[in-house]
Amino acid sequence: MSTAQDSGVQTSGPNNFGYNDYVLGSFKFNRDEFFAHVSWPTGSHSISIDNFLRALQRDCAWDFFYGTVNFDHVVGTINHYGTVDLFAGRFNEAYRKAELDHSENFQTPKIRATFHSMLDNWTNSTFDPFASPAETQAPWGVKSGSNTDAVTRRRVAAARMVGVKGDEQIRTDATGHPINRMFADVPQGEPQVFAEPGFEGEIAAFNLFAYLSRSNVTWNPSVVSVCKESLYCPTTEEYILPIVHGNDRVEWFIQLSDEIVWDVADRETGAPRAKVTMRAGDCAAMPADIRHQGFSSKRSMLLVWENNSADLPGLIASGKAPQYPVSF
Ligand code: PHB
Ligand code: FE
Repeated sequence: MSTAQDSGVQTSGPNNFGYNDYVLGSFKFNRDEFFAHVSWPTGSHSISIDNFLRALQRDCAWDFFYGTVNFDHVVGTINHYGTVDLFAGRFNEAYRKAELDHSENFQTPKIRATFHSMLDNWTNSTFDPFASPAETQAPWGVKSGSNTDAVTRRRVAAARMVGVKGDEQIRTDATGHPINRMFADVPQGEPQVFAEPGFEGEIAAFNLFAYLSRSNVTWNPSVVSVCKESLYCPTTEEYILPIVHGNDRVEWFIQLSDEIVWDVADRETGAPRAKVTMRAGDCAAMPADIRHQGFSSKRSMLLVWENNSADLPGLIASGKAPQYPVSF
């Protein structure tokens, strides 16, 4: 077991399958040909490696996201914005009742460095955890190469709004963003802008559908506009959202094309609460006391609208802000 001085990553290996083992507090992680195995003082759990790497990829790329990222019904993380809880069974009613759940808090840099190292070491050269399963090869087998470029892909984030001068958004075939096979019918025309004299540098418009038609990742919201705490995060979705999100604030969805079915469950227990079918043009708000996971049979476009205010989790926890966007 070695501890890299700067990052605090505790790792050893390679094991019999060629992969490194990791230790984080009293949690242990190792991978074989088919599974990620996680153990902690009161139990252990195995997750199919495709699902595990897809979830780990999102937790890394989103830097632990808003609130809870459930990898499945047992393992996940809670973001406290500076520290992160790693848990097992924390949001599983049966584990809680049996008092087998376990949770440990880590400084964000430590868990971040461990997760980034694990993601890179456990991903083989032919697997892309960000891609639709139809657009990547399989993750199975003994270690064979790596895919660092894919797993360290940066989430696209606009400084102002995509298309506004100074924002370096690249939306052409020439820069490696061809139109996705599922969006071949999306018109590529850009809007014409007629600015009042003197305002030419301050007004811009772009074709969001054309922009999204070129996304080569799935279930990875980009940030196309930032207005104070309002973040517009559109994304393209195919197959299953690889995490089950338990948000610490209300979040809005606008279905821009095609269809997504959401399974909505109680955030604490996982008890099913609703099934929400969203078709193009539908708008929904996810309350702050649930968990949700989306299913998209055909690649679709979704606008996720997040309120980024750091005050919200505290306001909701203290009852000063509601968990629901509207009371009927
Ligand atoms: C969500 O958890 O709300 C979420 C995450 C990623 C997506 C879409 C929605 O691509
Ligand atoms: Fe969410």
